Amino acid sequence: MTKPIWIIHGNQLATLASNHKGPRTGKVMSELGIIEDGSLWIEEGIIQAIGTTQELAKNFGGRIEEAEIVDASNHLVTPGLIDPHTHVVYAGSREKEFEMRLEGATYMEIMNAGGGIHATTRMTREATEVEIMEQTSRRLDSFLQHGVTTVEGKSGYGMNLETELKQLRVMKKLKKQHPIDLIPTFMGAHAVPSEFKGKEDEYVDILIQEWIPIVAKEKLAVFNDVFCEKGVFTPEQSERILEAGKKYGLIPKIHADEIISYGGAELAARVGAISAEHLLKATDEGIGKMAEAGVIACLLPATALYLRELAAKGRKMIDAGVPVAISTDCNPGSSPTTSMPLVMNLACITMRLTPAEALTAATYNAACAIKQEHLVGSLEVGKQADIVLWNVKDYRELQYLFGVNHVKAVWKKGIQVVDRGE
Ligand code: NIG
Ligand code: FE
Repeated sequence: MTKPIWIIHGNQLATLASNHKGPRTGKVMSELGIIEDGSLWIEEGIIQAIGTTQELAKNFGGRIEEAEIVDASNHLVTPGLIDPHTHVVYAGSREKEFEMRLEGATYMEIMNAGGGIHATTRMTREATEVEIMEQTSRRLDSFLQHGVTTVEGKSGYGMNLETELKQLRVMKKLKKQHPIDLIPTFMGAHAVPSEFKGKEDEYVDILIQEWIPIVAKEKLAVFNDVFCEKGVFTPEQSERILEAGKKYGLIPKIHADEIISYGGAELAARVGAISAEHLLKATDEGIGKMAEAGVIACLLPATALYLRELAAKGRKMIDAGVPVAISTDCNPGSSPTTSMPLVMNLACITMRLTPAEALTAATYNAACAIKQEHLVGSLEVGKQADIVLWNVKDYRELQYLFGVNHVKAVWKKGIQVVDRGE
């Protein structure tokens, strides 16, 4: 049995607790549920009590000898950050493409010439399961160092059944072996593989008739995602793929309106997607439809920056009543980063989210985008003790002092997994 942990005197304990049910919208995105001189009692990996240090001392003061005490004076304490959109499971890297883009090539030009997603697909097909596990595990270590305790991961660098399943199995194994919780998404519709060039509908048929049923039967994914973009999958093809997934219990997600306005936000609302991703070019009408349908906008400001594009209209979306989450989009092409703190900074700087909204977008709303809000995303009695202790006193400093990793310590299910010293 592990020792109970008693966190005391947190300068600000941002609990993210709220009476509001479901993904947070509008003003509720600014409610951080802050407790000053905050305290948490953790036992068996679960939060048993939360309140001020004085309040908890009444019930737990008598057990002080038994517990490991964490003095959080002068520190901010938050829930573990959640990354609800990554392509973290892959082999190899694409630094040459980074250089090519800086010299003028566009992301889509590189992809259409057989690079981009296709290049990573070749490397992932060739790699062994062990190699992919090792490379992914290192990336997950880096996520933890940045205060991230739950990560969604997509397949989509296989685009043949064997490698798609290989990626999903890697996730299943890593979920058991690595402290981070990995939530799997099937994304066979990440691109049309080169073997199917000119026969796109045939690929869509195979996805629908063969692969989705296998993935669902083997319970290898929770979500089904598609890259709806000109030159990749049309809105019609995307709709067919997402509707097929729904029949097998896979919840739709959609990479929408990233490069051009393509009706992706509207489609997300129509199919009842849990979230729509990217949305750099989402139309006002699409944003309105997402608000009505309660689709979470999963915004990826690091990707926009890395592609040297203008960020999505995060401010406008929140003001329109869309629940907003943020994510790294960690992938080897358009966003090779594991830093959710940087993503929070960019959400403020490039999309005009407030520091409080950015924190909600990276915790509670991010948990909702991957249906994990019953376990994580806020600090409440009965929830998992996934906690970050930061080297700042105030939640605003997290965003204000940007580009720096302020993580001091991280607990996953009540076990300390990161200690970055003073
Ligand atoms: O979300 N947009 C499509 N997929 C990824 C990029 C994947 C890659 O370039 O390898 C994204 O940005
Ligand atoms: Fe993505």
